[in-house]
Amino acid sequence: MGRFAGKNVLVLGGNSGIGLAAAKGFAAEGAQVRLTGRDPATIASAVAAIPGAQGHRADIADLDAMAALFATIAEDDGAVDVLFVNAGIGGFAPLAEITPDYWDSVHAINLRGCVFAVQQAVRLMGQGGAVVLTGSIGAHTALPGNITYAAAKAGLHAAMKTMARELVGQGIRVNMVSPGPTETPLLHRNPGMDAAAVDQLRSMMIAAVPMGRMGEADEVARAVLFLASQEASFITGANLFVDGGALELR
Ligand SMILES: NC(=O)c1ccc[n+]([C@@H]2O[C@H](COP(=O)([O-])OP(=O)(O)OC[C@H]3O[C@@H](n4cnc5c(N)ncnc54)[C@H](OP(=O)(O)O)[C@@H]3O)[C@@H](O)[C@H]2O)c1
Repeated sequence: MGRFAGKNVLVLGGNSGIGLAAAKGFAAEGAQVRLTGRDPATIASAVAAIPGAQGHRADIADLDAMAALFATIAEDDGAVDVLFVNAGIGGFAPLAEITPDYWDSVHAINLRGCVFAVQQAVRLMGQGGAVVLTGSIGAHTALPGNITYAAAKAGLHAAMKTMARELVGQGIRVNMVSPGPTETPLLHRNPGMDAAAVDQLRSMMIAAVPMGRMGEADEVARAVLFLASQEASFITGANLFVDGGALELR
């Protein structure tokens, strides 16, 4: 049994890093888990590692693909009890190098896609439903090169609060976890960064964390599970930093 026994949980971006850790955590506490991502190989390995899980290839930026996903869920399960909107990409580009295409590609995933995913999911949610979104301390700090990502995550934070206010009357809670530097494959996915540049970035990020280390995906996932659970029954519109003190103890 567990906090999610009998619950249908959908993790968008559940085949890697924080999303995979959360998907495992939900399943370990009794949930029927569906997870999405883009990479078929890691979707398959995630499903193999999580008892009873189902995987779907669906790009969160592709609203038609997402509509098809929710149509499938509506037919199969009929309901979503918990939605974890975690899909996101990183990337750095200073102001002088930002292009409209780069801006749009990041925002299509990290902001637009996430908001429209919530719009679709709440149609399948009832009283007691819970939505958790992944933000970032990057939305609240001034890290050079982070304009595009920070703006998308700040927009998602604003959208999260407004969605929470709109949905409170339907008994659906909406919250956010905002990780600090977390050891996941994301770090290695920054275009144009070789191993030395990744190490340099990691050292810079650790220097900004009072606890003096990167977070682990499980540490973020535990906060996600809390906000998604009935333990957080009186919490909505909240943003929980999971960052070793990086933001509040600066
Ligand atoms: N790691 C950090 O330091 C850190 C800090 C603050 C916030 N975050 C946020 O935490 C979240 C998870 O990142 P992570 O660190 O766990 O990195 P990760 O291991 O790279 O995971 C990212 C996840 O998002 C999925 N995803 C990306 N683009 C997608 C798309 N267009 N459609 C569907 N799924 C997509 C990925 O699936 P595919 O692999 O199949 O593309 C993967 O499951 C992101 O929102 C990120 O911005 C991370």
